[in-house]
Amino acid sequence: MKPWPHFQFALALATTIMSSAVYAGDKDAVEYRQHIMNTLNEQSAALGQILSGAISNYNATAHLNAIALTASTALKAFEPKVPGGEAKPDVWAKWDDFSRRMTEFAQKSSQAAKIAKEKGQDEALANILDVLTCKSCHDVYRDEKKH
Ligand code: HEC
Repeated sequence: MKPWPHFQFALALATTIMSSAVYAGDKDAVEYRQHIMNTLNEQSAALGQILSGAISNYNATAHLNAIALTASTALKAFEPKVPGGEAKPDVWAKWDDFSRRMTEFAQKSSQAAKIAKEKGQDEALANILDVLTCKSCHDVYRDEKKH
């Protein structure tokens, strides 16, 4: 076998190891919180279809549970101070405010899921726009890239 492919492989391996030591931790942290946000997005979109009447079923309680569970994981995902993605530096510069908003969002979602379970989904959906504070946080802390 020619030596070249080995060299190339060794180089690729070394690059991977080096970049994972230096960069991958940060990249992972950004991707992790984006996965959580995208989960929130999908579940809210599903809930929105039910709210608009486009989909008639009784899954709203399950979607609220999924949102509440996901919201409860969101704050921790932002704890590593890793600017990047669409997160504005203010997430960490104004951590008290950011974490209060995220905690309130998680509490309200969990409250809505509880109301859905105890009193039915219509009751829970009545104030859903007060629960899904996505936009008010994004307006301050997310720099939405033009896709
Ligand atoms: C307390 C603040 C806060 C709340 C509440 C919040 N988000 Fe976010 N969201 C962010 C920040 C900050 C980012 C940027 C993250 C990044 O790119 O690093 C973000 C990013 C996103 C993204 C883009 C993810 C990507 O792949 O780039 C989506 C989609 C999203 N949020 C949806 C939602 C939805 C839906 C809700 C409500 C159900 C919600 N968010 C609630 C702060 C919040």
